[in-house]
Amino acid sequence: MIIIIVSKKASLLPMSSSNTVADAAVLTDPFVHRPRRLRRTASVRRMVRETQLSIDDLIYPLFVMEGEGQKFEVTSMPGCYRYSLDLLLQEVAEAFELGINAVALFPVIPEHKKDVSGNESYNPDGLVQRTVKAIKQAVPEIVVITDVALDPFSTHGHDGIVDENGVILNDPTVDVLVKMALSQAEAGADMVAPSDMMDGRIGAIRKALDAQGYFDVGILAYSAKYASAYYGPFRDALDSAPKFGDKKTYQMDSANAREALKEIELDIAEGADIVMIKPALPYLDIIHRVREHTKLPVAAYNVSGEYAMIRAAGQQGWIDEKKVILETLTSIKRAGADLILTYFAKEVALMLH
Ligand code: PBG
Repeated sequence: MIIIIVSKKASLLPMSSSNTVADAAVLTDPFVHRPRRLRRTASVRRMVRETQLSIDDLIYPLFVMEGEGQKFEVTSMPGCYRYSLDLLLQEVAEAFELGINAVALFPVIPEHKKDVSGNESYNPDGLVQRTVKAIKQAVPEIVVITDVALDPFSTHGHDGIVDENGVILNDPTVDVLVKMALSQAEAGADMVAPSDMMDGRIGAIRKALDAQGYFDVGILAYSAKYASAYYGPFRDALDSAPKFGDKKTYQMDSANAREALKEIELDIAEGADIVMIKPALPYLDIIHRVREHTKLPVAAYNVSGEYAMIRAAGQQGWIDEKKVILETLTSIKRAGADLILTYFAKEVALMLH
């Protein structure tokens, strides 16, 4: 009879199926490996840190409205404002001075300029187009990214054109999105960012941009955009909540992961330069999978609801807000995002300086 004696210490450690020298050493003396050595001081921790959050990763989303000398705080997003163009330019200049490379613009369109088909979206003198021109004049180096979707411009608040039965029509919407993207490119946008989730829009926009000579205008595709309750505060900011129904026939079901890869593949095949997952925090697994799936840069949108939750808890004094912000954005980066759209961008830039 053979008796195997396992020492008490060794039995505390999980048995590994692989038979490496290191494993053997662990079995003879569990204290050969002391991972805490690499956590002992701040300097050592810095040496072995695997993920570095950098100002270069940040894209700052901004809300622009008509008017002059005005700025209104968004009630559900404390610390975030709708700016009139003159004040927005100051905010962009400040952000650039802090090292932020890119802004993403979202317009607040007055009710009387909205219609069922969102035609104001491609007005060459529209709010977005004027804003892009002004930023490109004031801070030419900053990357200007424009949103392509109809919801800020449509009376019903949907991202596309709606028929009499409330169905969102895909191909007629794509025709308007193409006009919108072209007018933004003409105004000087560096990248257009379709956030509408219509089928085929990336390819249609790429083709139209190229046909008009805008070869260098990039496409940041909201590829895996989920039908999420986390967009609530953003819709407050733009006054763009859907007037009927929801966005589930075009935005993705939160339960799906394989479908995200399908959407990513399609957008890449159609000519996307950067793919995006949105929201970020409840979809870290998707960010990770997409990162493994493509060589393109991957962006993630730390959306308004994610922002509002941290702010609200911070204001109550229930969490250490600054630490939670850094931990959250680092987790998004660690999951695989190269770029993060975040309303915390300026604050984080200050913290990273
Ligand atoms: C709309 C759009 C939304 C966001 C960005 N673009 C909202 C929506 O789809 O209803 C949300 C951003 C955020 O919540 O921060 N095309």
